[in-house]
Amino acid sequence: MVGMGWFMCMMMMVCVVSCGEAAPGAKFEELYRSSWAMDHCVNDGEVTKLKLDNSSGAGFESRSKYLFGKVSIQIKLVEGDSAGTVTAFYMSSEGSNHNEFDFEFLGNTTGEPYIVQTNVYVNGVGNREQRLNLWFDPTTEFHTYSILWSKRSVVFMVDETPIRVHKNLEDKGIPFAKDQAMGVYSSIWNADDWATQGGLVKTDWSHAPFIASYKDFKIDACEVPTTADLSKCSGEEQRFWWDEPTVSELSLHQNHQLIWVRANHMIYDYCFDAARFPVTPLECQHHRHL
Ligand SMILES: *[C@@H]1O[C@H](CO)[C@@H](O)[C@H](O)[C@H]1NC(C)=O
Ligand SMILES: *[C@@H]1O[C@H](CO)[C@@H](O)[C@H](O)[C@H]1NC(C)=O
Repeated sequence: MVGMGWFMCMMMMVCVVSCGEAAPGAKFEELYRSSWAMDHCVNDGEVTKLKLDNSSGAGFESRSKYLFGKVSIQIKLVEGDSAGTVTAFYMSSEGSNHNEFDFEFLGNTTGEPYIVQTNVYVNGVGNREQRLNLWFDPTTEFHTYSILWSKRSVVFMVDETPIRVHKNLEDKGIPFAKDQAMGVYSSIWNADDWATQGGLVKTDWSHAPFIASYKDFKIDACEVPTTADLSKCSGEEQRFWWDEPTVSELSLHQNHQLIWVRANHMIYDYCFDAARFPVTPLECQHHRHL
């Protein structure tokens, strides 16, 4: 449906429409829609923007649900002072026993580094945070953030460099996320109670609006017809490109990249937090260097 916003934009030759309306040729609407605060989600054709100000944050969600595959998006994070803000890109299923794979970008004061926090929830239980700094400034250019999900693992990637591998260790009795369809989500919100320097630095609203920009939306995943019917995506006989061992397991080169990221950019790993986990979480005991 072509709404008034699109008509106005044609008339004024300034094509900025809210995320609920279709801008011709834009991929965003094919895959996603605004999930809250539609007036804080703006499309200018190629780029979609989420805006946080003192009245609201904003979010978008995929139109479909998926079981396994690869989801990628290019994001340019809030420029300048982003302290107190969190921008998230994640996959999640629904319900109290939900599974979730998160990228959370914790803002900072001007010139200070963002933290990228990843987390994995399985059957409603998270507490698997890892944190790293990036090897570039994520606020000046678009960079690609991806989640590659197969029956063997969940791989988090930044510009195709793996930053985290969460393996399927069901053979060790550890549950893995593989039987709930997931949606894909992004949002920006105020989290100044914890995000920046542990909550010490508050959001400076005089610097609002805080804007995260998105483009190049890609979902190459198995779309489920309904969340009750997963057979198309999960049957034993089904094989997709992400099931190939060359894809679902890191290559030697990718392993080296991951080791480099962990050695040079990792600032926190729940696996080594003895104060929080006096008993090392079971999956950490099996994750050698991961
Ligand atoms: C929110 O920001 C606007 C514009 O900067 C300002 O006029 C308004 O007073 C602010 N509202 C609150 C509740 O702080
Ligand atoms: C913000 O910058 C400070 C100082 O460089 C740093 O300690 C902190 O880890 C950075 N990130 C966040 C999200 O607080």
